[in-house]
Amino acid sequence: MQRRQFIRIAGGGVIFAATAALPGCAYVPPPEAIAPWRGPGDESDLRRWVLSYAILAPHSHNLQSWLVDLSHPDEIILRCDRRRLLPETDPFSRQIMMSHGTFLELLDLAARERGLRAQITLFPEGEYDAQEIDDRPVAHIRLVPDAAVRRDPLFADILNRRTNRSLYELQRPVPDAAWQAMAAAVAPHPLRFGFVGADRADLLQQHRRIAAEAWRIELVTPRTIMESYRVLRVGADEIARHRDGLALTDPLVVLLNYVGLLDLSKAPAPDSYATTSQLKDFGEKLDSTPGFLWLVSEGNGRRVQIDAGRAYVRVQLAATSYSVAMQPISQALQEYPEQAGPYAEIHRLLGAPQPAHTVQMWARVGYAPAVPPAPRRGLDAHILRA
Ligand SMILES: Cc1cc2nc3c(=O)[nH]c(=O)nc-3n(C[C@H](O)[C@H](O)[C@H](O)COP(=O)(O)O)c2cc1C
Repeated sequence: MQRRQFIRIAGGGVIFAATAALPGCAYVPPPEAIAPWRGPGDESDLRRWVLSYAILAPHSHNLQSWLVDLSHPDEIILRCDRRRLLPETDPFSRQIMMSHGTFLELLDLAARERGLRAQITLFPEGEYDAQEIDDRPVAHIRLVPDAAVRRDPLFADILNRRTNRSLYELQRPVPDAAWQAMAAAVAPHPLRFGFVGADRADLLQQHRRIAAEAWRIELVTPRTIMESYRVLRVGADEIARHRDGLALTDPLVVLLNYVGLLDLSKAPAPDSYATTSQLKDFGEKLDSTPGFLWLVSEGNGRRVQIDAGRAYVRVQLAATSYSVAMQPISQALQEYPEQAGPYAEIHRLLGAPQPAHTVQMWARVGYAPAVPPAPRRGLDAHILRA
């Protein structure tokens, strides 16, 4: 991003995709916002130890909607904080359920590390319907010592995993061994894994085209772009205060915000610089991407969605072990009416006929410069108090 471009957005909206700092000016997150990435340290309570890893899971828009009830010894009840949903872009809370799946998977990996079997009972008071989630718990978990439980090598990369929204290295394909590790990581869960790499330039172009169109739709649909604006955290103070959401850290955007020139209260016009520059920026990122992956389910019930999240974070951990970067691109998978075109196209391209099949995850994959960890609110913020 050029400095000059940022000046032009004053009064015209914000460049939402610009989470990267200026070249040579590496963004350092406020220490308190990333402290949870140090892990549990010498935490002696096993439930807290395990949960300290689970809260590092990927979550749509980094909303961290996990609430845990620890009031019964040796048990964890996982609930969803329904103040942290995305009703416009995720109208049926499918991605929220996936984001609880990622949490449960990391919890499971951490439990194994301590010789514990995480006995997870999903929806102990009944499953949510297909439309909305309610106040019933997502899962009941009991940690049971078990000499037969096996450690999982994916645990080793929990603290290193990052969603990476940078430009990728187009000329550096993802090696076969990394694709194979990602595919193998899915195995415990009933999802179909697929990928396309640098050897299929024709297919890569189709992926890029659908992703770009879906992003355009999200940007020009006022209620969906506003949903993202509401969770933007601009600059170190806001990031440290909220420790969730999407961080905007470019020094000039932060300055504009500080002096009151950044207007996040209304959606930018489709032909405004704020919109067109974001489209261009995302297009360049797609063009730099040497691979895409996807996860397809049969059926789309709540348990399947949880499994999809579990499978996704395993894939991402496997990629991390090869230093391969990843960014989900969820727009075309979203169920709001304006996305019907890209939704149908991506299902067709990936051989996932509707309604029997659902593309649960689609991500760009490649090598990229390292990025810092995303903020986390810390374990205590997730514990329900009586
Ligand atoms: C179900 C799901 C959907 C996601 N969709 C997107 C997406 O469309 N674009 C994106 O940049 N990140 C997406 N993410 C990544 C989250 O934004 C990310 O996990 C969060 O900001 C925390 O960052 P971290 O993964 O580096 O810890 C998604 C994550 C999940 C679990």
